[in-house]
Amino acid sequence: MGKVAVTAAVICAAAACAAAALVVRHRMRSKGRWARAMAIVKEFEEKCRTPIAKLKQIADAMTVEMHAGLASEGGSKLKMLISYVDNLPTGDEHGLFYALDLGGTNFRVLRVQLGGKSGRIIKQEFVEVSIPSHLMVGTSDALFNYIAAELAKFVREEGQDFHLPLGRQRELGFTFSFPVMQTSIASGTLIKWTKGFSIDDAVGQDVVAGLTRAMERQGLEMRVSALVNDTIGTLAGGRYLNEDVVAAVILGTGSNAAYVERAHAIPKWHGPSSKSGEMVINMEWGNFKSSHLPLTEYDRAMDAESLNPGEQIFEKSISGLYLGEIVRRVLCRMAEEAAFFGDIVPPKLKIPFILRTPEMSAMHHDTSPDLRVVGAKLKDILEICNTSLRTRKFIVELCNIVASRGARLSAAGIFGILKKMGRDTVKDGEKRRTVIAMDGGLYEHYTEFSNCLENTLRELLGEELLDSVLVEHSNDGSGIGAALLAASHSQYL
Ligand code: BGC
Repeated sequence: MGKVAVTAAVICAAAACAAAALVVRHRMRSKGRWARAMAIVKEFEEKCRTPIAKLKQIADAMTVEMHAGLASEGGSKLKMLISYVDNLPTGDEHGLFYALDLGGTNFRVLRVQLGGKSGRIIKQEFVEVSIPSHLMVGTSDALFNYIAAELAKFVREEGQDFHLPLGRQRELGFTFSFPVMQTSIASGTLIKWTKGFSIDDAVGQDVVAGLTRAMERQGLEMRVSALVNDTIGTLAGGRYLNEDVVAAVILGTGSNAAYVERAHAIPKWHGPSSKSGEMVINMEWGNFKSSHLPLTEYDRAMDAESLNPGEQIFEKSISGLYLGEIVRRVLCRMAEEAAFFGDIVPPKLKIPFILRTPEMSAMHHDTSPDLRVVGAKLKDILEICNTSLRTRKFIVELCNIVASRGARLSAAGIFGILKKMGRDTVKDGEKRRTVIAMDGGLYEHYTEFSNCLENTLRELLGEELLDSVLVEHSNDGSGIGAALLAASHSQYL
C-alpha cells in the first residue's frame, strides 16, 4: 500500500471514530435530557400526590375551618359569609325579572318571565358580553358604566312577550362573584377582588350603590332587589329545579361553594331571626389553606407573583384561571434545566398565563395516535415546532397530574361540606338525597377533571352513600337563581 493510501485510510478511520463519538455524546446528552425531564416530572408528581388518607385530612381541615369561620368574623381563612338568603325558591315566583351576572371575563344580562308553579319559566332571553381587560384593573365607575350601558341596551330591546305590570319598576338580581360582606339581601361591601380583577377604589364600597349610580347615569330605572354570589345564585337556581339541592359549587375561572346552614349553628349571626331557621352561607372556599394541601414550588412561585399573594391558595390549585399556568411553569423548568425543547428555551413559554386551561384541556383530551392536538397547540401557542411523540406524551402526563390534583382536592372540599352538614353518613338507616349543584366552565368543559372529581367523591363517600349523594350540573343557574331571588325579595311583595 502506498504512503498516500495509508494516510488516507488513517484519516478516514479517525473521522469515523470522531463521528461515532459525537453520536454517542449526542445520544448520551439526549438520554441525559430525557432523564432530567423525567426526574422533574416525577418529583412534581410525587409532591402533587393526593392519596385518600390525605384527602380525608383535607376534608377534616375544611370542616374545622367552616366551624371557625361561622363562630366569629375573621375566625378563619374561610369567610363563611352570610348571604341573607333564608328562603330558597319554591316555584311560586312570578313576574318579569332581570339578572346581571358578573364574575369572570364575561358578564351576562338576562330577563325572565316567571309564571309561578304552573307556568314556571315562561320565557327567558340573555346576552353575554366580554369585559375589556383594561376595565378589570381600572376604576369602579368605568367598570359599572360599561356594564350599565350594556344592561340599558338590553332593557330597551325588551319585547311584547315580557310583561311588567303598570306603574312598577323593573327589578334586578345582581350576581356579583367576589367576596362581599352583605348588610342585607340587597346591599354589601366588597371585601377584596379575586380572579385577576384589581380595582382599588371599589374595595370596601357598597357594590349595589356603585351599580345603581351607573344605572342612573344611563337613565335606567331599575332596582337591585337581590345581591348574590354566583354560588348562592347556583344554589337557588338548582333548588328551583330540584328540592334536594343543598349546596352549590363553582369550578370555573375561580372556585367557591355555598350550602344551607342551620341558623342556630352560626354563632356570629346576630341579624334578624331567620324565618325558615336556615341561612345560606357563601363559604369563599377559594381562600381555604391547610398544611395538608400538596403544594409545590411552582404553586408558591405563582402565588408570590400574583395580584393577591398569600390569598386564594385553594382556588389557585384547583380553578381554571391557574391550572394551565401551573403546567406552563413546570414546562419552563424542564426547558431551562433539561433542554426539553432543545438548546434554547422557547421565548413564548416564559410569558405568564400564556397557556390557558382550555388549551391544556384540549391537549389532555387528545386521543389521536400521534397526539396531533398537543403538537398543534405547542406550535400555535408557544411557537414550538416539530415536537416528538415522546415530548407530547410527557406534556399530556403533566396535564393529567395538575388536573387530577385539582379535581381530587375539589372532591375533598365537597366531602368536607357534606361532613359539616352531617350528610357523609347514613343516619338511622335513612337515606336522604343530597344534591350538589355544580357550575363553571372548568367543570363543564374539562371532562377528565369532572370525571376525576366525581370518581374521587364516590371513593370518599363509600358504597353506602353512592346513590344518595348526587352532583348535578346546573347550567348557568346562577343568573336565573339571582332573578328568582329578586322575585322572592321583590319590593312589591
Ligand atoms: C370568588 C368567589 C366566586 C368564585 C367563583 C372566587 O374567586 O372569590 O366569590 O364565587 O370565584 O366565581
